[in-house]
Amino acid sequence: MSENSNIAERFTKVLTPNYRAPAIAIIRGEGCKLYDAEGREYLDMMGGIATVVLGHCHPRIVSALENQAHLLWHTSNLFASTPQIELAEILVARSFADRVFFANSGAEANEAALKLARLYHREHGRDRYEIIAFEGGFHGRTLFTVSATGTPAYWKGFEPMVPGVHHAPFGDAEAVRALCSERTAAIIIEPIQGESGVRPAPAGFLAELREIADENGCLLIVDEVQTGMGRTGTFFAHEPSGVTPDIVTVAKALGNGIPIGAMLTREKVAKVLGPGTHGSTFGGNPLAAACAKAVMDELFSGGILESSREVGLFLGAQLEAMQERLSEDKVVDVRGIGHLRAVELPVPAAPIIDRCRERGLLVIGAGERNIRLAPPLVIRPEEVEAGIEILEEAIRAD
Ligand SMILES: Cc1ncc(COP(=O)(O)O)c(C=O)c1O
Repeated sequence: MSENSNIAERFTKVLTPNYRAPAIAIIRGEGCKLYDAEGREYLDMMGGIATVVLGHCHPRIVSALENQAHLLWHTSNLFASTPQIELAEILVARSFADRVFFANSGAEANEAALKLARLYHREHGRDRYEIIAFEGGFHGRTLFTVSATGTPAYWKGFEPMVPGVHHAPFGDAEAVRALCSERTAAIIIEPIQGESGVRPAPAGFLAELREIADENGCLLIVDEVQTGMGRTGTFFAHEPSGVTPDIVTVAKALGNGIPIGAMLTREKVAKVLGPGTHGSTFGGNPLAAACAKAVMDELFSGGILESSREVGLFLGAQLEAMQERLSEDKVVDVRGIGHLRAVELPVPAAPIIDRCRERGLLVIGAGERNIRLAPPLVIRPEEVEAGIEILEEAIRAD
């Protein structure tokens, strides 16, 4: 039995079966390259699901991790920790926000956002608890965030869902208006729906939601867990819209793979989150915060955010050129911005993703018929070309 199969067999014996049996075990990573248990090299164009924004084992993050590992790992949030404060200071300086709550994942950051939206109104004497989310949206797997997730398949077996969550068609402002009432606490939206197929919100939609939220008196939460941290060419994907949200959530790329999430908000909203109202044992602990601070430093002072823009455009152009070379019965659409892209197929994506892997390229699905590309921002143009060549071969072979 091969080493990969051997590890996969052990995986299936002891881990809960919610993750499909993996075809390979990844042992090592460097930049945009990964190596499996048999030493085979892969080009990573999925970045640990839009997470490894600076590539694997980036020296600056490794060094931040090592330094902090010798200093202090964890004390709980009963004590102040300087890495956490420094990280929050950078996030505040680089965004609309005045305050940051740290969590360990995207779901936890969103859970905090949704709970805060309810608390905000309750503290002002308003019985607003309803949430308007979108069909096709994805916000996590805790009960509140999966309730906000707009794909009923994720709810199955976990009902009853958190009450008061409504889903509008993505991009339909009139439907949102119709769902808004004196019970609405917040609207939550991904600027680009990642999991359901890399679907950008229509132009002007975020601005319309801001207007609706202001008219109604509810909050606007923008979930940037997948799209934030420079993935679409700006620090947050919503920035080009000119809209200022009330709450923004990030996770995934914030730690480049170290588990950390954050909820960013304005003073006016944050102040209702008084002592004891919410919390987390690990959220923003020194080890995770030191790594995330190094990620922020590399993005901004290291110049990655700017230098990656051109490669993001190149990736889009390469995908469009591939679409032109292939007929419509092979590729239905290519979509996305920067380093978050999808190729929509007329057939299920899974067999093509498997073929890519067999040819040394790692990509991921998004919905049944999309191949999603979310490579590290540090991917080089020649790696993009090599990846698209494999992708095209794998699509043609179908
Ligand atoms: C937009 C969005 N929100 C929330 C989440 C949940 O994040 P996590 O898996 O870290 O809980 C995800 C994960 O894919 C996501 O894409």
